[in-house]
Amino acid sequence: MADIIDGKMISNQIKEECRETVEKEKLERALAVVLVGDDPASAVYVGNKKKACDFCGVKSVSHELPASTTEEELLELVDKLNRDDSINGILVQLPLPSHIDEDKVIRAISPDKDVDGFHPENVGRLSIGQPGYVSCTPAGIIQLLKRSGVEIAGKSCVVIGRSNIVGKPMALLMLRENATVTICHSKTRDLPAVCKQADILIVAIGRPKMIDASYVKEGAVVIDVGIHRQENGKLCGDVDFDSVEPVASKITPVPGGVGPMTIAMLMHNVVYGNGADADMPWIAI
Ligand code: GUN
Repeated sequence: MADIIDGKMISNQIKEECRETVEKEKLERALAVVLVGDDPASAVYVGNKKKACDFCGVKSVSHELPASTTEEELLELVDKLNRDDSINGILVQLPLPSHIDEDKVIRAISPDKDVDGFHPENVGRLSIGQPGYVSCTPAGIIQLLKRSGVEIAGKSCVVIGRSNIVGKPMALLMLRENATVTICHSKTRDLPAVCKQADILIVAIGRPKMIDASYVKEGAVVIDVGIHRQENGKLCGDVDFDSVEPVASKITPVPGGVGPMTIAMLMHNVVYGNGADADMPWIAI
């Protein structure tokens, strides 16, 4: 029987800490949230981000643009937000409509306001161990581990998935915490055998319930980044929870595991900045 890592509870703790810091330090923080088009899932995410801002005492400034917005118009808005001193974080919700080059938009955001941690400068800073904004989902996973009492240093960690947003920064963060890190992907030979080496297995492969007990060492900590809607309407992750839970020592559920941490760490980034300000009272990542 594994302990369940309660992401809902830990994310609430972090948002509460953000709220207290804003109040105590009398911080004036503002996040610009840019949504292009009418993707319903993106609208829900953006709504939740704005709610989290309200909770934490952070101002959210919303820019909802039609799907017909040109790349040039979006780049102009980003430029305006970069120069606006009242805005300290800029979030352009992805995916963008296909006629807009996402990479170009990410590069246009000032690295100092890139609270998503997607700008190549921030990715580079992470890779050479300098302060910088860190992608929210992997940063949230570090918090889940630390706040659940999981020792990372010296452990064998296997990350399945090599996306720019989760897999790669996750591996870098675990390395920074002194884990011995392996990154796996679709071409990895004998994936179950590699995964079975892991003390900490982080799964971001994007396939429902793919990882069953045959991939998991007895007593491993298993973190599931996936979220999928099944035919019966219920949500599931990349991990087959019922198969893995009896083998693992700790496991994140879906929903209520990694998911809520992304917005909590976004609030962390908006409130605490990029770790470069030595006067900030609490830098967790
Ligand atoms: N789309 C899905 N997740 C994210 C995220 O974390 N940030 C942004 N900007 N877009 C997303």
